[in-house]
Amino acid sequence: MSGYRFPEGFVWGAATSAQQIEGAVAEDGRSESIWDRFCKAPGNISDGSDASVACDHYHRWREDIGLMRDLGIGAYRFSVAWPRIVPGGTGPVNEAGLDFYDALVDELLESGIRPFVTLYHWDLPQVLQDSGGWSSRGIVDAFVRYAEAVCGRLGDRVSDWITHNEPWCIAVLGHEEGEHAPGHRDPAETLRVAHHVLLSHGKATETIRALVPGARVGIVLNLVTVEAASGAEADGEAARRFDGAFNRWFLDPVFRGRYPDDAVADRLRLGHLDGPRLPFVGEGDLGTISTPLDFFGLNYYSRFVVRAGEDGEPEEVPPVPEKGITEMGWEIHPEGLFGTLARLRDEYAPKEIYITENGAAFLDTVGPDGRIRDWRRIEYLRDHLTAAGRAIAAGVPLKGYFVWSLLDNFEWAHGYTKRFGIHRVDYDSQRRLAKDSAFWYRDAVAANAVPGEEWEFRPRRSR
Ligand code: FCB
Repeated sequence: MSGYRFPEGFVWGAATSAQQIEGAVAEDGRSESIWDRFCKAPGNISDGSDASVACDHYHRWREDIGLMRDLGIGAYRFSVAWPRIVPGGTGPVNEAGLDFYDALVDELLESGIRPFVTLYHWDLPQVLQDSGGWSSRGIVDAFVRYAEAVCGRLGDRVSDWITHNEPWCIAVLGHEEGEHAPGHRDPAETLRVAHHVLLSHGKATETIRALVPGARVGIVLNLVTVEAASGAEADGEAARRFDGAFNRWFLDPVFRGRYPDDAVADRLRLGHLDGPRLPFVGEGDLGTISTPLDFFGLNYYSRFVVRAGEDGEPEEVPPVPEKGITEMGWEIHPEGLFGTLARLRDEYAPKEIYITENGAAFLDTVGPDGRIRDWRRIEYLRDHLTAAGRAIAAGVPLKGYFVWSLLDNFEWAHGYTKRFGIHRVDYDSQRRLAKDSAFWYRDAVAANAVPGEEWEFRPRRSR
């Protein structure tokens, strides 16, 4: 082991989300989610699949916690499916839905694994979408009620709470680019949605704190490194615009209680707003949104290099394979993780940061001996963890790391074609198989350090 050693108490974890692993979409009173509906429309999911079975985690959760015990991880980040808890959107709470997470939490705690619970990882009850979804302000109250129900049941055992996963994806992929559920393409709606998601974060934070003594509450944002393709002024301007729309539109309200002026001006110029005032922002909203966080969750995968298109608007320069790209086509850029963490420290100063997702999809193959030698994933994890370690050494208050993902799973619009797991899932048999990266990660966790290049595969110890 020649790599970076992490400070005592560093949290090692793995992450998943409900819609991507649970399946059992119609069991025990769960109602339809917007993703269940979205999957039904031809063309939305690249392999025509849906998440009705996924990893069948709803029935195999004990086995999956067994995988976590084998890894030796100290924390597990999962999300609760809103349609299981309040199937009618605003009606009664479904106790059977809560029972599932209740048992999951007990088993995690018995295994010495600390639960980090995400309330919203994109599976809105369809019935709430039918009455406007995130674009109607009424959803904020519905979210708070849902949060109350979950905290009321799990709050005696769970102290780490995440309100939302990646508001950018909810707002932009879901409502501007149409790639994610509900599949809208309406920039004006996008901004309203983003605001209601953030407002519901602030309100739910207050609710969680009121209900759960000692709760620690955070939000997860996906941030990207943005670099200009050249030193030309227009490319620099394109990078500023891209960063404003992607990163700062979410960071600034959460940490500074305001939307960034330059990014608001950009949206106005694009015709996405009628005037410089944001019509959906109510009195006091930004104060609520910027309620101080206990921790900030960073999902980090890649960087974007942008140039000015003909109209001056940012345009992504597609990464070339020589730079190293994953199956998602995302450039592998671990230095960007260091840069993003340093930026957070310098510009936003969160009290604590957790890397709540980081990982990579590759085409894994099972060897004749049954082993999956996913050395590219191992390299990805090694280089990003090393960058994370450098950031800690540079004074970033980084407290933990969650690999995405524990299991191969339903990768949204890509269906089952992208495998992010450190465990392979054979979707026909539902067999889980540890990839080499799982053994590597187990050794990293045990050593509290990044294994060096000399790391060698050693088969699993028996439980
Ligand atoms: C993130 C999502 C997560 C997963 C990874 C690959 O944007 O939060 O659910 O899909 O990307």
